[in-house]
Amino acid sequence: MSDDGSFYQRDLAWHPPVLTPPYKTSVLRSPRRAPLSLPNTVSEMTGPVFGHDMLGPQDNDLILNYAKAGEPIGPRILIKGRVIDQDARPVPGALIEIWQANAGGRYRHKRDGYLAPLDPNFGGCGRTITDEQARYTFRTIRPGAYPWPNGVNDWRPAHVHFSVFGHAFAQRLVTQMYFEGDPMIWQCPIVGGIPDKAAIEQLIARLDREATLPMDAMAYRFDIVLRGRRSTLFENRKEGN
Ligand SMILES: [Fe+2]
Repeated sequence: MSDDGSFYQRDLAWHPPVLTPPYKTSVLRSPRRAPLSLPNTVSEMTGPVFGHDMLGPQDNDLILNYAKAGEPIGPRILIKGRVIDQDARPVPGALIEIWQANAGGRYRHKRDGYLAPLDPNFGGCGRTITDEQARYTFRTIRPGAYPWPNGVNDWRPAHVHFSVFGHAFAQRLVTQMYFEGDPMIWQCPIVGGIPDKAAIEQLIARLDREATLPMDAMAYRFDIVLRGRRSTLFENRKEGN
């Protein structure tokens, strides 16, 4: 966020509070003191952190980008959407990174000890950049739910982790996407930390029959809304000034 007030402030009633005790990790992780406001430096506001040439042709295809001998097991899906700001302006050129468990609910990570097996053909990571209309697409397999050591018997709903980078180092959003119709969403202590039901609904990707590929892959739509700028398109000044 720039320090001249040109961006909307974060709506703290929309985001989960930092301390939500049913989500046990938040107890130790939440700060005990009031936050300090630090001014951004020029490098944080202007520094590019990636380039289009970093991306490979299979980076947004998780079915193929780790395949060794055959394709990964699981329901084949597309995840499609747009990145817009809260004034409905498209955000082209945003880097989107995703990571997820495999169809059995197991991450390819050394600290994941869940007994579900790794899939030798699935890495679980992908990235892409929004196009001129701020659209993006991933091809992947639907992740499985997995248990986690929180309460006695807590399970995460099937989800995909998202990171969105804007045009500067300090512009980053990290969130999770869930799947329409999954009853586990409403039992999850992490999801339960979000105070507004409408904010939860915004994290649930909708089945998109229009984008479904016949005899191939179901499609889900997940649009991401970022905070907007207070400046309007009609102001007589350059972007970023
Ligand atoms: Fe996860």
